[in-house]
Amino acid sequence: MKKIKLAVIFGGMSTENEVSIISGTSVIKNINKEKYEIFPIYIDKKGTWHKYPENQNLMNIKENISKFIKIENVTEYIKKFDVVFPVLHGLYGEDGTIQGMLELLKIPYVGCNVLASSVGMDKAYTKVIFEKANLKQADYIYIRKNDDKYIFVEKDFSEEILNIEDIVEKIVKNITFPMFVKPSNSGSSVGVRKVVSKEELKNAIEYASSFDKKIIIEQGIKGKEVECAVLGNEIVKSSCVGEIIPAEEFYSYDAKYNNSDSKTLIPANISEEISEKIQYLAIKAFKAINGAGLARVDFFVEDATQEVYINEINTMPGFTSISMYPKLWEKSGIQYEDLLDRLIQLAFER
Ligand SMILES: Nc1ncnc2c1ncn2[C@@H]1O[C@H](COP(=O)(O)OP(=O)(O)O)[C@@H](O)[C@H]1O
Ligand SMILES: [Mg+2]
Repeated sequence: MKKIKLAVIFGGMSTENEVSIISGTSVIKNINKEKYEIFPIYIDKKGTWHKYPENQNLMNIKENISKFIKIENVTEYIKKFDVVFPVLHGLYGEDGTIQGMLELLKIPYVGCNVLASSVGMDKAYTKVIFEKANLKQADYIYIRKNDDKYIFVEKDFSEEILNIEDIVEKIVKNITFPMFVKPSNSGSSVGVRKVVSKEELKNAIEYASSFDKKIIIEQGIKGKEVECAVLGNEIVKSSCVGEIIPAEEFYSYDAKYNNSDSKTLIPANISEEISEKIQYLAIKAFKAINGAGLARVDFFVEDATQEVYINEINTMPGFTSISMYPKLWEKSGIQYEDLLDRLIQLAFER
């Protein structure tokens, strides 16, 4: 049987470049080499595309990142593949841009299409869709930065231009501390801060604005942080539910990647009833954004009320062998290698 030519793209121009290298190399390591001929493609932080020299050992990609060779004509090069797996997180990877390029070139690819990717990447717009789908989420405020002013965006998108002090006053009238301030286009918790005072709120808004002009301020939820994986195109299945036990006050960048005291618990320590509810809501959220292939849907279960709040949907979740997405499926009976195979099949079926 002729092998399927598969390009695995990783790296990328986002703040999650390093995470994507680990995800991508893990995918390459675990893919069925009898069935697929693998072509690793590395996009560096500046956006230059590189290919791996042929005949090089696929096991040592991360160590040999300097051996990658610049691709002169990216679109011509990409056309020779049967399917592409863009293992890219964040902007210019998980946001519909690369998906759009692959659509234009008519190449099947793993994961969500343009619309679902861009909706899932932008927290302000994810929230609009979740609201429409009646998915319960934390109260929030959406603001935009414009020069040295801020724009308060109402739920009907009408706008009011304010200075930072007035924005802070307006926010504290609507939601209470603790709050979470996030760049709308964030990932891996980059730019996210928890705040408990007006002063911290002001600083966190200014900090978040250095990552994105669009900023979300959210009511903090005290509870468990849980995640559910979904898989499928039309017929979508959800995995068991996993729990995050962050080593820090919240699941910050350091807690995610640098603090080995952060733990995951699979299955989550929640009742069967809540777990089933989350599995149902995860599929609902995936359908609401018009998802395809895969996503990891993140929730909070509030301690005081046991209410389930949706937090976000990740259309290209972390994919290292210890990441939540593959681990949830492993626990639900699908091994990593079979999961990759299934995702590629879904790319062809779409
Ligand atoms: N409303 C909230 N209540 C409590 N914790 C939150 C809230 N929003 C975010 N967090 C914490 O901040 C982390 C990062 O926020 P998140 O919205 O998931 O951004 P990212 O897309 O960067 O992962 C979450 O994993 C969680 O620990
Ligand atoms: Mg998150």
